[in-house]
Amino acid sequence: MDVINIIEKLYKTNDASKEELLYLLDNIDENSKELLIKRANETRKKYYKNKVYMRGLIELTSFCKKNCLYCGLRRHNKNADRYRLTLDEILECVRKGDKLGYKTFVLQGGEDEYFTDDKMVEIIKAIKSEFPDNAITLSLGERSYDSYKKMYDAGADRYLLRHESASKELYESIHPGEPFEKRRNCLKNLKDIGYQSGAGFMVGIPGQTNEDLVNDLRFVKEFEPAMCGIGPFIPHKDTPLRNYEHGSLEKTVICLAIVRLLLPKVLLPATTALSSIDPKGREEGLKAGGNVIMPNLSPMSVRKKYSLYDNKAYILDEDAEYRTMIEQKINEAGYEVEVSRGDNPEFRK
Ligand code: 5AD
Ligand code: SF4
Repeated sequence: MDVINIIEKLYKTNDASKEELLYLLDNIDENSKELLIKRANETRKKYYKNKVYMRGLIELTSFCKKNCLYCGLRRHNKNADRYRLTLDEILECVRKGDKLGYKTFVLQGGEDEYFTDDKMVEIIKAIKSEFPDNAITLSLGERSYDSYKKMYDAGADRYLLRHESASKELYESIHPGEPFEKRRNCLKNLKDIGYQSGAGFMVGIPGQTNEDLVNDLRFVKEFEPAMCGIGPFIPHKDTPLRNYEHGSLEKTVICLAIVRLLLPKVLLPATTALSSIDPKGREEGLKAGGNVIMPNLSPMSVRKKYSLYDNKAYILDEDAEYRTMIEQKINEAGYEVEVSRGDNPEFRK
């Protein structure tokens, strides 16, 4: 086997076996990394040209009933400052976002039972009645089939639920008491209902090996999500994983590029976590095939409270000036901001 051949095969066929992916991750060096990124960038350009889609992120609630070992919002973190946005506050964020040109709103939150199906249906309908042409993406964790269905019928278009890790043992070691199969089942339900679904994983979870990452890459290839969120693990001081190192920029970028080659049409964010570990993170993510960024629209008063990991990048995007600044940076990197809804061409409702 040879790294260059594997990259060229990935580029031509959009596929590679477990063995090939493992060989690639184990043996990639500076030169071959350059080729991988070049091929990933060419692939994104084939389908999306230079476009970067903007999604306005609204962080609904920092309450969470789960206890994921890595996350600052975990239930056992007594130092977390919890909040919930009201319907009026959510609508204000949405209006601000629409003015800034965002055609997708991502409603994200911890797993908070306060946001019942009825509450979510009310929120989704309120947003859709004011902005019928804008897309709504939900990211509210694991819920029942019925719950996902009700929210879909109310008008939600997309759902992000990272699979976090496709290795059962690693998954269960960082999600105490949470069966691996349950998450898989949720992802299947979302797809069956008709959502444009997003999977995704963290890079550099303590104990994660290249074999684990290969499982993630193969899972993503087989599940064929419309979106895929990939970011480095970053420690949070009030969690059991506080003393571990964050995942590397380089490894994350390599995974982004491989996912772009495996799924040429996937919507792939250059994530906030990537910007948080390195000032060049966003740009590097875009160069490796990323075509989405998700600036924060949450009210300033709650931003610090939505703390998944330490040193999260805070982009002051509600300020029109910052919108221009982001646009400028994207342009400087050779890309263009695109303000349409930005559906995955294979999954439009
Ligand atoms: N580091 C990196 N990513 C994290 N997430 C949660 N906690 C962390 C952390 N400490 C990610 C998870 C989740 C998404 C919303 O944020 O992958 O799915
Ligand atoms: Fe809750 Fe999500 Fe954090 Fe897990 S990752 S503790 S489900 S907010």
